[in-house]
Amino acid sequence: MANDAPGSPPSTAPVEATTAPPEPAAKPVTVSDQTILPASHWQNAPIPDPIPAEDDGDADSTYSSIQSSTASLTDSILQYRTIHGRTFHSERGRAQAWTPNDESQAESMDMNHHLCTLVLDGKLHLAPIPDDVEKVLDIGTGTGVWAMDFADLHPAAQVIGTDVSPMQPTWVPPNLQFQIDDANEEEWTWRENEFDFVHVRALFGSIISWPAFYKEAYRVTKPGGYIEDHEWSVKFGCDDGSVLDDSPMGQWSKVYWEGGKKFGRTFRVVEDDEQVRGMEAAGWKDIVKKDIKVPIGSWPRGEREKTMGIFSRGMWEADAEGYVLYIWGTVMGWSREEIQVYIAHLRRQVRDPNVHSWYLHRIVYARKPE
Ligand SMILES: C[S@@+](CC[C@H](N)C(=O)[O-])C[C@H]1O[C@@H](n2cnc3c(N)ncnc32)[C@H](O)[C@@H]1O
Repeated sequence: MANDAPGSPPSTAPVEATTAPPEPAAKPVTVSDQTILPASHWQNAPIPDPIPAEDDGDADSTYSSIQSSTASLTDSILQYRTIHGRTFHSERGRAQAWTPNDESQAESMDMNHHLCTLVLDGKLHLAPIPDDVEKVLDIGTGTGVWAMDFADLHPAAQVIGTDVSPMQPTWVPPNLQFQIDDANEEEWTWRENEFDFVHVRALFGSIISWPAFYKEAYRVTKPGGYIEDHEWSVKFGCDDGSVLDDSPMGQWSKVYWEGGKKFGRTFRVVEDDEQVRGMEAAGWKDIVKKDIKVPIGSWPRGEREKTMGIFSRGMWEADAEGYVLYIWGTVMGWSREEIQVYIAHLRRQVRDPNVHSWYLHRIVYARKPE
């Protein structure tokens, strides 16, 4: 297995800090790597004044125009589950989506798509698929924004985007179709050897068995065809000690990881190397893995990294509540008020210029042997 691909964009180097590592504001509570602070910890801590975001006017204006409309499908699919006023895909079969399927989430997903193209230096994928690719599957397509861009770029290809939630727009390129399909089904609806390229992005926390998932993807891919899966870590990393374990950002991954265990869908896809292990087990060959550190916030010095940081923070802020409600509330049992207080602390920290945080975006692609 190679660690990097020839011709792929350079890894985003660990972005340099603009200032010296800050002194911790208060003596950290001693918490082990696993400790989750109780909801009451955040209720009792005073919420500092919000910090205004600087330099993010471009991100706001670029994305103020992004809208997505919801396709009108059958009534049963539209029986969304409502949690604290937000709509989620209703549980059916083995599908249980932890992100909402409404406008705020759609805006966040579309912003993330732009961020992904920045991360890939304008590309839509790294796998060396031919320009005349014929049939492409995008699993867990969300707003379908990747599938739309891909279909526009490859007008001769037939592109299919699937999701459990009908949150895709109705006006799409003629060579693109959206379908409701559950990727956790033991056998996907597609025939053997049907697709030249299977694309996957951000299904962490959604898949019951990653080995089974890659096995089905292998079955439906043509010999010589490719899979590419982008997943990211939910851990807010840093290189200068500015994210402490007992801080709101330090607690974020711990709650996700514990919630994922209870929920039966892991959020440790990157940490446990699920992509490479699952693809190897399924028979995929020529596996290439690439890790990119994506900064959060406008703290990096370099222009490219700064822009990425502004977009990643914008994506998160566009729907911070949506990312938290299901796992913190439904799975871990926090009340809405407890969640809101925690998010207020988190927002403050995410905007703190002394916090130099990033997350890992892992891309793994591989080929089905001829
Ligand atoms: C974080 S979003 C990513 C959307 C899109 N791939 C992107 O990168 O813009 C995850 C998507 O996976 C969908 N999803 C969750 N569980 C699924 C399942 N079992 N089968 C198919 N899609 C699923 C959700 O409805 C949501 O739209």
